[in-house]
Amino acid sequence: MNHHSLRVIDHPLVQHKLTLMRMRETTTDNFRRLLREISQVLAYEVTRDLPTAMVRISTPLTEMFSPLISGKKLCVVSILRAGNGMLDGVLDFMPAARVGHIGLYRDPQTLQAVEYYFKMPTDISERLVVVVDPMLATGHSAIAAIDRLKAAGATSIRFVCLLAAPEGVTAVYQAHPDVVIICAARDEYLNDHGYIVPGLGDAGDRLFGTR
Ligand code: URA
Repeated sequence: MNHHSLRVIDHPLVQHKLTLMRMRETTTDNFRRLLREISQVLAYEVTRDLPTAMVRISTPLTEMFSPLISGKKLCVVSILRAGNGMLDGVLDFMPAARVGHIGLYRDPQTLQAVEYYFKMPTDISERLVVVVDPMLATGHSAIAAIDRLKAAGATSIRFVCLLAAPEGVTAVYQAHPDVVIICAARDEYLNDHGYIVPGLGDAGDRLFGTR
């Protein structure tokens, strides 16, 4: 098993907020706010190595060379629906990014991802794509989303999640070894229903209060 590209963000603030999110009694509004806050930090980490170029500018006092981001422009892709809980936090940090959406649901019998929606910016092939989905469980949705993004022309893809199951990480790296994964925690295992353990339950239901 090769986890060389899995980055776990063990910042104390992230771990503290994640513990609150895991707690059964955390309310929908707090869960949503905490996911947004953690997503800001994950966005910071996933863009840590973006290239910059020095440009000459004038401050009110003098002239200087100062760095501006010089590489590909960004596109954040949310895997519906739970990915939307990360979107605003990521966009807080990169407000000029374009946004794509992929609708996938998990067939409850096979646990396979079935696509029902796909809308991307037309220049996706020229952008660094940051895919967001809080729970990397079996990896089926992540792999299907990345397959589809590559088919649409994306060449540079990173995957940001809150919790990653070892099974999902292995599956994504087998299918897409070029994709870096960033998470707040790598949990223990998947149960028979495809839920991450210890996990936090169904992220979509907890975000939107649907159960
Ligand atoms: N999706 C969720 O929302 N939770 C899990 O534990 C696994 C997949």
